[in-house]
Amino acid sequence: MLREWLACALTPAPQTARTLGLVRESIALEARYRRVRRAWAEHLAQSRRFLLDSLATLPRGDTALVMGSGPLLDIPIEDIARRFDRVLLVDLVHPPRIRRALKRWPHLQAITHDITESLDSLAHAPSAAFEEWLTRSARHVPQRFVNDGRIQWVASVNLLSQLPLPAMAHIARQRPELSPRLEDWALSLMHNHLHYLAAFEARGAHVALLADRLRLTLDREGHPLIEEPLDAALAPVTGPARASAREWDWPVAPKGELPEGLSQHHRVFACHGGLFHACPD
Ligand SMILES: C[S@@+](CC[C@H](N)C(=O)[O-])C[C@H]1O[C@@H](n2cnc3c(N)ncnc32)[C@H](O)[C@@H]1O
Repeated sequence: MLREWLACALTPAPQTARTLGLVRESIALEARYRRVRRAWAEHLAQSRRFLLDSLATLPRGDTALVMGSGPLLDIPIEDIARRFDRVLLVDLVHPPRIRRALKRWPHLQAITHDITESLDSLAHAPSAAFEEWLTRSARHVPQRFVNDGRIQWVASVNLLSQLPLPAMAHIARQRPELSPRLEDWALSLMHNHLHYLAAFEARGAHVALLADRLRLTLDREGHPLIEEPLDAALAPVTGPARASAREWDWPVAPKGELPEGLSQHHRVFACHGGLFHACPD
């Protein structure tokens, strides 16, 4: 507990990331990894292998953009560092351990940035303005980096389903009566992220996506209790790459991590190169 409190205090991050609980989440993710690293090993290896495979057909390149880089657990960073002249690692929270490690590679930049381009205005908004914020953010397709013509490879790494969560918790805490609106809003936000990726693909970048397709809660005997499909979130992915998507299970909260003997798995969906037929509308 004390260790996690100290880690929060020592993690540099914008106030928005603190207000919306992203710093706490980042520390909790690394703490869980330390507890369950054996259970996560296969998922992390699969993720790294998939990202390497997505690079296999590309020549050595100029710039890579990695979204949701965080603790770099599922990212083959050494290979990526060798393959590109410039690597942009984007997250709202870069753990201090990662910032220190990156000093070895001057061509790697940790960029602290909200990938939805919406959260700052929420963190500063009075709760009376939340309806208007929901409407505005549901329509906003992010822009940053799209016009950087040097970007040749873009990876969105186990991020998609996480994007709406901090705002949903913040709004539900202060305005519980808005909860029924949040599911539709979350879907729009996730689609906006995919439209953002589509804009890179339309400019000729090779795009790799790792995302959850299903959340599965298991009872103490390991039987499925709650299934939450996330197929609707992935609907804009209609390109030829979808047919060759890989899938595997990530025991994200193995037994012992949740109360009452419950556990949780995510089914990961991974595809690259030709995710979108055309820029989805
Ligand atoms: C499940 S973790 C991904 C893990 C990471 N790829 C790794 O190597 O372990 C999701 C990451 O997305 C980041 N994230 C969530 N929402 C974000 C946002 N709006 N902008 C930037 N980063 C965000 C979190 O800080 C976290 O590092």
